[in-house]
Amino acid sequence: MIPRWFLPVGIITLCLALVPFAIVAKIRSTKSTETRPQIIFDMDQQPKFKAQAVNGLFADGRAMRPRVPGTIPRGELQEDDHLYRGKTGGEWATDFPMEVTSRMMQRGRERYDIFCLPCHGYTGDGNGIVSQRAESLREGIWIPPLSYHSDVIRSKPVGNLFNTISNGIRSMPAYGTQIGTEDRWAIVAYIRALQRSQNATIDDVPAAKQSKLR
Ligand code: HEC
Repeated sequence: MIPRWFLPVGIITLCLALVPFAIVAKIRSTKSTETRPQIIFDMDQQPKFKAQAVNGLFADGRAMRPRVPGTIPRGELQEDDHLYRGKTGGEWATDFPMEVTSRMMQRGRERYDIFCLPCHGYTGDGNGIVSQRAESLREGIWIPPLSYHSDVIRSKPVGNLFNTISNGIRSMPAYGTQIGTEDRWAIVAYIRALQRSQNATIDDVPAAKQSKLR
C-alpha cells in the first residue's frame, strides 16, 4: 500500500526538478548586454581597450594609436616602384612586375567580377548594373564609368591602369586599401584580356577554328 503523502510530495518534487531547466531556457532565450554570472573565471574576462575607446594614459586620450611619423610597420616597406606604384624610371610601367600566368588571369577575372563589374560591366564596356540603375534614376549627377575599349584607355600603359585601381581617378573611388597589390595587377591583366577580346580579329582565332567561323 503506497502511503497517502507519496503522491503530493512526488508531484511537488517533480515540479521543483524542472525549475533549473526553466531557468536555463529563460536565460538562453533572453537577450542581455550584461555579462553572465560566472563561478569559475578562467581567462574569459581581461581588461582591454576596444576600438575607438578612450585611454587616459595618452595625451590625446585615444586608445587606438596613430602611426608614429617617420616609421614604417614591419613588412610594409614598399620600396619597389614597379610593383607598388606601377612605375619604372619615373614613367608608367609598360610591363608587369611578375610573370602573367593563367592562374593570375583567373584570379584577376574573379577579383574584377567582385570589385569592378558592378560599374564597368562584364565586358568592360561601362554598362554595369550599378551604372544602369544610376542612369535610370535620372538624377543627372551620375558620371558613367568609362569603357575600356576606347583607343585612349587601350593605349594606357599597365602601370597607369594599376595606379587607377590603387588611387582611383576623378569620380572613380580608390581600391588600393581593399584589393591587395598582386590582386590589383591580376585585375590589370584581366582588363588587357577584355580589351583584346573586344577588339579581336579573325587572326586571333587559332588557325584550325578559323574556317568554322568564316
Ligand atoms: C562605383 C563605380 C565604379 C567601380 C566599382 C569601378 N569603377 Fe572604374 N570608373 C568609374 C567611373 C565613374 C570612371 C570614369 C571616371 C571619370 O571619368 O570621372 C571610371 C574609370 C575607370 C578607368 C579609366 C581611367 C582613365 O584613365 O580615364 C579604368 C581603367 C577603370 N575605371 C578601372 C576600374 C577597375 C579595374 C575597377 C575595379 C577594381 C573599377 N574601375 C571599379 C566607376 C567605377
